[in-house]
Amino acid sequence: MATQMKAVVFKRYGKPEVLQLAETKKPIPKSNEVLVRIHATSVTAEDPKMRGFNHPPLLKLPIGLLFGFRKPKNPVLGIEFSGIIETVGSAVKNYSVGDQVFGYTGLSFGAYAEYKCMPKNGLIHVKPENQSFEESACMVNGSLSALVYLKKKGKIKKRDNVLIYGASGSVGTAAIQLAKYFETHVTGVCSTKNLALVKSIGADFVIDYSRQDFTQNDKKYDLIFDTVGKTSMRECMNLLKPKGRYLRTEFGFSHILASIFTSLFNSKKVIVASSNFYWKKEDLAFLKKIVETGRFKPVIDTIFPLENIVDAHQYVELGHKVGNVAISVR
Ligand SMILES: NC(=O)c1ccc[n+]([C@@H]2O[C@H](COP(=O)([O-])OP(=O)(O)OC[C@H]3O[C@@H](n4cnc5c(N)ncnc54)[C@H](OP(=O)(O)O)[C@@H]3O)[C@@H](O)[C@H]2O)c1
Repeated sequence: MATQMKAVVFKRYGKPEVLQLAETKKPIPKSNEVLVRIHATSVTAEDPKMRGFNHPPLLKLPIGLLFGFRKPKNPVLGIEFSGIIETVGSAVKNYSVGDQVFGYTGLSFGAYAEYKCMPKNGLIHVKPENQSFEESACMVNGSLSALVYLKKKGKIKKRDNVLIYGASGSVGTAAIQLAKYFETHVTGVCSTKNLALVKSIGADFVIDYSRQDFTQNDKKYDLIFDTVGKTSMRECMNLLKPKGRYLRTEFGFSHILASIFTSLFNSKKVIVASSNFYWKKEDLAFLKKIVETGRFKPVIDTIFPLENIVDAHQYVELGHKVGNVAISVR
């Protein structure tokens, strides 16, 4: 049995080049863990921020305390993955060797590697049968964020009038498809080059943000979901129906204050959240179901091999990926 594995490690915060392919110790599962042989992972929009310690001011302190201020405490990044279970601990009854799974590592990271141990009750689930490993690996962060924001926080309901801003990103492409799944009327806002894609994944209307200001129209929305944090809260609040909700994935102090204030004193709500705290195993089961019934498909921009992780980070950091960037580990 090999005791070593390949992983992408970083020993200091910095540019993409701090990421290096190296031989590291292969993890050994505890009795309540499974060992996953990783087939694919992804580079999410958060990964370059973690690599460079480039966080919004509000997050620098908690993230520094958790993950290190001067250098990373955890040398292997990567939060979502798919793969095959190679070993199960003696106390694991819900998985078997050979199960094809996908999941989220949580704050332990570690998916830029050939192997990862996951607790049996962690965020891991048998992957959809009709999906590649790359697709499954890209179906956690963006998709679960969109699901939590739209359903658990935004209380989306049939026939709502929904606007998704940043419709071409990882969260955005998932949000468009989920909003359609929930039988709402969906407007997607994206740039010219992504109009066709956003329409093809279900948007009823598309607005090109490079040619038209979406705030300059008479339409009113039940839900405005800004997936990239580029809209004006004031302008969006004016576009909401009386009990409408304005949701943002990227937020600062003013948005937190507004969310507290509106939750108490306003019929229109501002909603912000660290959505990963709300992710549940049954959410992965829900995604698997809608993939298998042909109602959902994660959008993949590019697949990079693990060896080219530096290129993948450089690309994602530009902020213009379409859907998700997958990393093929096997
Ligand atoms: N709070 C949470 O729980 C949570 C969860 C997940 C993600 N996030 C955060 O949410 C943000 C988005 O995540 P993501 O994974 O969806 O990002 P992403 O995939 O990297 O977003 C890239 C997309 O954003 C579009 N975009 C860039 N600038 C835009 C603008 N001014 N107007 C409209 N679209 C624009 C780009 O399209 P163009 O090429 O046309 O510009 C591109 O397709 C990230 O900052 C991430 O850290 C937060």
